[in-house]
Amino acid sequence: MARSQWGSRLGFILAAAGSAVGLGAIWKFPYVASQNGGGAFLLIFIGFVFTLGIAMMMAEMALGRAAQSGAVGAYRKMGGKRWVWVGYMGVLVGFLIMSFYSVVGGWTIAYIIKSVTGEVISADAKHLGSVFGSFVSDPVQPLVYHALFMALTVGVVLGGVQKGIENLSKFLMPALFVMMLVLIVRGLFLPGALDGVAYFLNPDFSKVTGKTVIDALGLAFFSLSLGMGAMVAYGSYVSKDTSIPSSALWVVSLTTGVCILAGLMVLPAVFAFGFDPAAGPGLTFITMPAVFAKMVGGQLFAVVFFILLMVAALTSAVSLMEVVTSFMIDEFHMKRVPAALSMASLMFVLGVPASLSLGEWSGYTLFGKGVFDLLDYTTSNILMPLGGVLLAILAGWKIWPEIHAQLGGDRGERIVWMPAMKAISCFVAPALVGVILVYNNL
Ligand code: PHE
Repeated sequence: MARSQWGSRLGFILAAAGSAVGLGAIWKFPYVASQNGGGAFLLIFIGFVFTLGIAMMMAEMALGRAAQSGAVGAYRKMGGKRWVWVGYMGVLVGFLIMSFYSVVGGWTIAYIIKSVTGEVISADAKHLGSVFGSFVSDPVQPLVYHALFMALTVGVVLGGVQKGIENLSKFLMPALFVMMLVLIVRGLFLPGALDGVAYFLNPDFSKVTGKTVIDALGLAFFSLSLGMGAMVAYGSYVSKDTSIPSSALWVVSLTTGVCILAGLMVLPAVFAFGFDPAAGPGLTFITMPAVFAKMVGGQLFAVVFFILLMVAALTSAVSLMEVVTSFMIDEFHMKRVPAALSMASLMFVLGVPASLSLGEWSGYTLFGKGVFDLLDYTTSNILMPLGGVLLAILAGWKIWPEIHAQLGGDRGERIVWMPAMKAISCFVAPALVGVILVYNNL
């Protein structure tokens, strides 16, 4: 049977952007940027995105199309036996991410409901902080929503590649963009909001530390869905005549655009309402409701916003689950339904301590981090960059002719950026990421 393909180039771009744009851009980016001093972080993040990020995006898609298979198969086929464990590592990363991602996905569902009931429609910063705090530290509630989000994800994954993912992405992206623009405009008119804009856009390099750099690197990989094989899988469904470089550029730009919009949406509100910029994972959830409270029809906006956020999270979660599920199907010859259900159950189970670590189990730490933070840190800041480096080495040193051909080199034209792509793969990515990883973790 021929491998199924995306309906069109646009379908492919939107689906890949659907994987990339999610909680990383809208939930994680604002609080990590905010914890790391704003402007300087943004610049470093953008620096990584448009060098390593775009190069790795192209390399992953090219690898997938060349091999006509998902990550594990692709590493095996193109790299040989010694490389296959890079694919395994990607599956493991997908598994680990999904377990805590689904917890946060659950928060979005809870916030849809809290918006409907009006519990979070308030401009009182203290109230919003305590609603969030008591919700995430509750031993039961977040787990129920975590289960619900996991179930939704399985539902989409079982719907199949094209129907499920492509259709969902097509209407979500534009709606999300428009919604964010509206919220930014409203937020900017709040008294004090411009301090937030200044914080976000004025680089203060005295705040830059090793942590800033690795957080920016990790977030670039996380928010672009790189370094674990998701884009390899998506690339394997791309038709021969779709241009990978231009698709990759679109996906990277759209995602970065959403990250920046999210920053402009959240940070001005942080300053206008006097929230703590270093508040952490609750930032988007506690500040946005305050903006809604100041809007005509704010409650409706709140409901729509959290629905869009939930769907954005869902399209990303689907790509995580797909990597893990197709691994079980290809390697262990499982059927799709049991593969998805069994993996989802295991991810759910691992998500339980992650969720509890934000409340009752906050005392249990390893290397100073609770389970949630530990999962987040090891995947984003260690394993994904590592996966990216290994891919770069494979692409640059071992299978460059295939990658070169997939990126348009087979048409015989001279492509101006191709030497840069090769240099990033062979030297820049391994050296830079190597130094950052070693510096921060040893
Ligand atoms: N990029 C997704 C997000 O930002 C998360 C993700 C990472 C999805 C890796 C797939 C693979 O929400």
